[in-house]
Amino acid sequence: LNTGDHEHPEERTGPVLYYTEAVIDHFMRPRNVGEIDIGEANGFAEVGDPSCGDTLKLWLVVQDKTISRIGFRTFGCPGAIATSSMMTVLALGKTLDAADSLTDDDVIDALGGIPERKKHCSLLGVQALRSAILNHKERSQPPGSP
Ligand code: FES
Repeated sequence: LNTGDHEHPEERTGPVLYYTEAVIDHFMRPRNVGEIDIGEANGFAEVGDPSCGDTLKLWLVVQDKTISRIGFRTFGCPGAIATSSMMTVLALGKTLDAADSLTDDDVIDALGGIPERKKHCSLLGVQALRSAILNHKERSQPPGSP
């Protein structure tokens, strides 16, 4: 495979063209799949990617400002499933602030890369995570506070 290294010496690695083993593993055995009961979850988000119609629902249980449980369901492509699964692995056990600063690049790096045309799939996971954290913060505000 000619990745054009000679013409572009600044690029040390070529683009990822196929799913890595980690992506296939998380697609075949997604982690933290499933809805968390409404009485237990204290953060929720549902996001969609208008370009492909895929959707993701995410539930959080936050205790002491730390994500102690996380669950997701997606109606999406293999890239969406694998990146959502890896996002939950990275977010679980993190403080809200640390989880809020996770990026789609963190998710992609943890999976060893993802094909360029599938990179947008990883956005669903981090968008859902940020919006579920926001939802949790809104729910935990005492009534009447600004
Ligand atoms: Fe829709 Fe992957 S193609 S999220």
